[in-house]
Amino acid sequence: MDLLQVDKSKCLKCGICVESCPSCILSMGEEGPKCDFDRGCMACGHCVAVCPVGALENKYTPLEKQRPITKPMLDAETAYEFMRMRRSVRTFRPVCPTEEELTKLLDITRYAPTAGNSQGMYYVVIRDAEKIKAIADAVADWMEEEIAAGSENKRYFTTVLRAYRDRGQDIIARNAPCLVVAHTRRLNTTGVSNAEQCWAYAELFAPTMGLGTTIAGFIQSCGIAGYKPLLDLVALPPKYKMVGCIMVGYPKYKFKRMPERQHLKVVFE
Ligand SMILES: Cc1cc2nc3c(=O)[nH]c(=O)nc-3n(C[C@H](O)[C@H](O)[C@H](O)COP(=O)(O)O)c2cc1C
Repeated sequence: MDLLQVDKSKCLKCGICVESCPSCILSMGEEGPKCDFDRGCMACGHCVAVCPVGALENKYTPLEKQRPITKPMLDAETAYEFMRMRRSVRTFRPVCPTEEELTKLLDITRYAPTAGNSQGMYYVVIRDAEKIKAIADAVADWMEEEIAAGSENKRYFTTVLRAYRDRGQDIIARNAPCLVVAHTRRLNTTGVSNAEQCWAYAELFAPTMGLGTTIAGFIQSCGIAGYKPLLDLVALPPKYKMVGCIMVGYPKYKFKRMPERQHLKVVFE
């Protein structure tokens, strides 16, 4: 089956699909758009989605599986407020969200941008409190080793360890009832960047479900660095690598205010 099928009775030959293709592999022929290099298709579905008359089929992103856009876009003020309201949640009620809730939360991350539409994000949800504690302990061990090795993060890690080891405060996993570990195939070179995009989606969506999240930066840095004791605990399938970690739970407290940030720093040339 060819990559593209064109309904010639509908096609306007307007060229919008050609112009929109991220891989620049389409051109306009006598009979409508054609693909000049099938293997360059990243299956993003833009060509099909943008066609004003629904004349195009792409075998990777069939028209019938594309949902028509019917709802109006949020107005800018509402969207701005909504995005500004997102906060990291570090105090959780001691109960884990349900599998259904966690599935819904992670499901939205499928729509986050990924390099070359590579997608390929896998998740392990860890809910065992003892395992989460063991993970945090392993990260603390890693920090100690990093300090001893003269890491550039020495001062920061020393502060973290003061809280974690000396004061017994879980600054690493925040007593979260659940950790989500993102992983990709080892050969995926953009997994970490993709995971960051996925977290942005999950973090924005979480409060709409009554959930709270925080990126578990210490844990994910330790995992991305390949610290074996941590990776042994997480126990990812062979040929996969850890690319991110996030804490999830029900927030214990509600934010009443939105703090100000640094002013916008931009230069127009
Ligand atoms: C890459 C990254 C790593 C982070 N790691 C942690 C972390 O390990 N622990 C934590 O409490 N917050 C972590 N955060 C959350 C930031 O501290 C937080 O986004 C920042 O202080 C702003 O607060 P807000 O998210 O509530 O707006 C991380 C954020 C990012 C983007």
